[in-house]
Amino acid sequence: MVACIFFLALSSCGGGKGTDEQLPAGEPSEPKSDTAQVWVAPESTQQVMNPQPASVASIEKGKAIYLQYCVTCHGADGKADVPAGIAVKASNLLEKTPSQSDGALHWKLITGRNAMLKISAYGISEDDGWHIINYLRTLTKI
Ligand code: HEC
Repeated sequence: MVACIFFLALSSCGGGKGTDEQLPAGEPSEPKSDTAQVWVAPESTQQVMNPQPASVASIEKGKAIYLQYCVTCHGADGKADVPAGIAVKASNLLEKTPSQSDGALHWKLITGRNAMLKISAYGISEDDGWHIINYLRTLTKI
């Protein structure tokens, strides 16, 4: 199965025309799943605690990162009903994140899947991933 990287996702994805297509250098080589499959974080990550208290400073830091790197696909409100988000089938964070633990969400941020790149690809540190999660919790708090 040809990995569906972001650039391909915008045009055609998963066409499966060739079996021996090479991944561009630097791309992860593990097979990636389709967005239609529910993305489940490994059991071992579920209980991992967020080391960053959800302070005002942490939430502000997470917000700044989210607005810089995540709104393109997930929208300012997290619903992903923006053109790029629709094109790559980005998750509606308001629906998907409340049921998940901080540890599970952090694992998804540092691992990535399909068009959702791991945050290190944007130069975002694992520690900043926790700040982003603290901010996401404020988006989903109704
Ligand atoms: C290029 C578009 C794109 C960008 C930019 C992007 N995402 Fe995503 N995101 C996706 C897609 C697509 C998925 C669904 C991936 C899948 O299920 O295979 C996703 C899934 C997620 C999920 C998991 C939701 C679930 O289904 O459990 C979280 C959390 C998330 N994104 C947060 C972020 C954060 C935080 C950022 C910014 C650092 C970000 N995303 C940037 C496209 C994007």
